[in-house]
Amino acid sequence: MSLLEDFFLFSSPTTFLGVVALLLILYLVSSRSASQEKGKKPPGPRPLPLLGNLLQLDLKRPYITLCELSKTYGSVFTVYLGTNEVVVLAGYKAVKEALVSYAEEFGDRDISPIFYDSNQGHGILFANGESWKEMRRFALTTLRDFGMGKRVAESKILEECHHLNQLLEKHEGKPFETACPVNYATSNIISSIVYGNRFEYDNPSFKNMVRRANDNIRLVGSAQIQLYNMFPRLVSWIENRQLILKNTETSISVVKDLINSLKETLNPHLCRGLVDCFLIRKQKEEDSCVTDTHYNEKNLIFTVTNLFAAGTDTTATTLRWGLLLMAKYPHIQDQVQEELSRVLESREVQVDDRRNLPFTDAVIHETQRLASITPMAIPHKTSRDVTFQGYFIKQGTVVIPLLTSVLHDESEWESPHTFNPSHFLDKEGKFIRRDAFMPFSAGRRVCLGESLAKMELFLFFTSLLQHFRFTPPPGVTEEELDLTPAVGFTLGPSAHKLCAVRRQ
Ligand code: HEM
Repeated sequence: MSLLEDFFLFSSPTTFLGVVALLLILYLVSSRSASQEKGKKPPGPRPLPLLGNLLQLDLKRPYITLCELSKTYGSVFTVYLGTNEVVVLAGYKAVKEALVSYAEEFGDRDISPIFYDSNQGHGILFANGESWKEMRRFALTTLRDFGMGKRVAESKILEECHHLNQLLEKHEGKPFETACPVNYATSNIISSIVYGNRFEYDNPSFKNMVRRANDNIRLVGSAQIQLYNMFPRLVSWIENRQLILKNTETSISVVKDLINSLKETLNPHLCRGLVDCFLIRKQKEEDSCVTDTHYNEKNLIFTVTNLFAAGTDTTATTLRWGLLLMAKYPHIQDQVQEELSRVLESREVQVDDRRNLPFTDAVIHETQRLASITPMAIPHKTSRDVTFQGYFIKQGTVVIPLLTSVLHDESEWESPHTFNPSHFLDKEGKFIRRDAFMPFSAGRRVCLGESLAKMELFLFFTSLLQHFRFTPPPGVTEEELDLTPAVGFTLGPSAHKLCAVRRQ
């Protein structure tokens, strides 16, 4: 039920008329002051004072409303979330041009109240300025040193594939929820890069760490938190905010313990993982009395929690979509498994096999395209005044690059709303890249883990499909498998079970 419907149902006629009259007066005042501002702003639906366009917005799935609005207002338009002015970029051309050709102008992060509460401007995801630049550079270099896009990561992922396959085997072909096993596996990749070791799947502390990170990603996408971000002072007591803060506090204390135990066994000449590299660098800067260093405790904690959250849920969610789509479209699963058997026979897959597995590669890309798991990227902010496509956007304006409108752009994709791996295949069945494939966004804030994520998706998906046939639970037809995404900051499949039946 929308807020508007709630209001109609629960208010008395007098209150209702009073509020309408008040809104009308405020509306007239606000449209006068808006027209006095200089520069031509991107168009958009008329906002109500204080509420902005809130009543038009589906708070649980705002990206759907924004896609609808782009049909009326075009590829650059303004909406008001409460009193916050937000510019939305829709479709491949506008998003690409803004993020790539105007990378600096559109490259700051908007740190909404909930992300400020939980990160205080530290780390990578919700930081800006010199501190962000340094942490991003440090994380990228370290991730590369620890194998992102290299053989080291390949062997780590293949080892994890083995553990994941063993875990699925334990279900003996009976229905199971895909979320936990897949999240544990992807989480262990980032954990071994960050801490230098993986965790056992039955380690309660690890299981809770993954659960808390995933819960927070889900809660951040809830209607309650959208309201909190619009009216932080008014609704700071809201339940989901309290849950997020509690989860964050617990996670920070667990991360501190993990860091402390690494400190105790630190060898300054040997980095076991990103934490070690950070601690060594921190010590060096302290020894040379660097005064404006960004290598401090808070940046370490939030860089670690950011990488853990960003690296676990996204990759796991995409893999879960892949398995669900295979169960729903068994003829496509047949084609993947035929290709795997023909090319790999029964040997273990390697990264280099990708070029000989064009159909499998196309299926993975199409899964990412259709699932569009970060539909609004992570909101950006303009770092300075900019005139873009003839519109004036002032410094500090929140910008939403509507990635889902790029991945489903009707002028870019032959069948934007159906699962069609041919989007990534030419007539001879060879893999083709597509410009509008932007699930990792682009420009200054492009996903830092893109190459690691691609390697994980390829190896996990291939290994799982080599070993198992994925089917709906007994009594459920393929048509009945629901592709409606759940509500959340990232879009996972709705809760479901699948069977993994051993193939070889
Ligand atoms: C399928 C998997 C993944 C997808 C679809 C994905 C997608 C994204 C997107 C859309 C953004 C926001 C870009 C923007 O603001 O314009 C992002 C940012 C980020 N991602 Fe990923 N990601 C994935 C996996 C990973 C992994 C494995 C890691 C960790 C190594 C990671 C770390 C990050 C970080 C740290 C940022 C923030 C970058 C910044 O603000 O400078 N991501 N990702």
